Amino acid sequence: MTVRKAVLPVAGLGTRVLPATKAIPKEMLPVVDRPAIQYVVDEALEAGIEHIVFVTGRNKGAIEDHFDRAYELESSLNKKNKQCVLAELERSLLKPGAASFVRQQAPLGLGHAIWCARDIIGNEPFAVLLPDVIVKASKSCLAQMIEAYDKIGGNLIAVDRISRDLVSSYGVIAPKGEQNGRLIEMSGMVEKPTQAEAPSNLKITGRYILQPEIFALLEDQGAGAGGEIQLTDAMARMMEHQAFHAFEFEGKDYDCGSKAGYFEAVLAHAIDHEEIGDEARAMIQAVMS
Ligand code: G1P
Repeated sequence: MTVRKAVLPVAGLGTRVLPATKAIPKEMLPVVDRPAIQYVVDEALEAGIEHIVFVTGRNKGAIEDHFDRAYELESSLNKKNKQCVLAELERSLLKPGAASFVRQQAPLGLGHAIWCARDIIGNEPFAVLLPDVIVKASKSCLAQMIEAYDKIGGNLIAVDRISRDLVSSYGVIAPKGEQNGRLIEMSGMVEKPTQAEAPSNLKITGRYILQPEIFALLEDQGAGAGGEIQLTDAMARMMEHQAFHAFEFEGKDYDCGSKAGYFEAVLAHAIDHEEIGDEARAMIQAVMS
């Protein structure tokens, strides 16, 4: 069965980038000229996703508004004949009926957030994209994963290699056997391991393709690392019954949930930007000199 739906858990409080996120959702922080969440939605759409389920929380209304029409703004731009800006706004709309919003009522963890989408996903495979992570790639990271999934099925987790001293901030997979191209067989995974416990330096990047059986496991998943219900723990249990592969994608990921990662994302997207790229490079050089 093809992957048609994606879950974007956007209920997180953004504490790592305070005070910027005191009054606006972290997902709405701009990366050059569009909010971070737009990059993640674009990645999903480029991969052929037809329906996006946003798992939101309080004070996240700006995300809904961003993907909706803004009549007053559009009519004012129309009167001023600003067709280019209008076209850009049109591009960021989600098709009518192609998005759902469900609330995670308490911050119980990523696993709980994904579980909140169970009724809307139903009984089909689905993608998860963590909106803190922007992946810059020539082909959308999720599109690469869906291409691999269409050949091998099961469950897929995007991974990338990090320095060993960073493993305790992430989920880490235990590889097994030979790597077959971008696909890595796995024997397990652990959330936020210490450096000594970490089974590898392959971190879970924040892109997943999962079978719907995960919901039954999430339903009774106890709290794990940080006292939260962890998706990684439920996936580790599901590995006993279902095939899992790690997928080493082509591209570079930026963790916009941290100050340094967000800044790096802005720099990387500014220097490659169609309109301001040359200027941005020159400015960076001038600031450095
Ligand atoms: C989450 C996942 C973790 C993954 C990370 C990627 O952690 O639980 O496995 O490595 O995203 O950014 P969080 O950033 O929510 O602590």
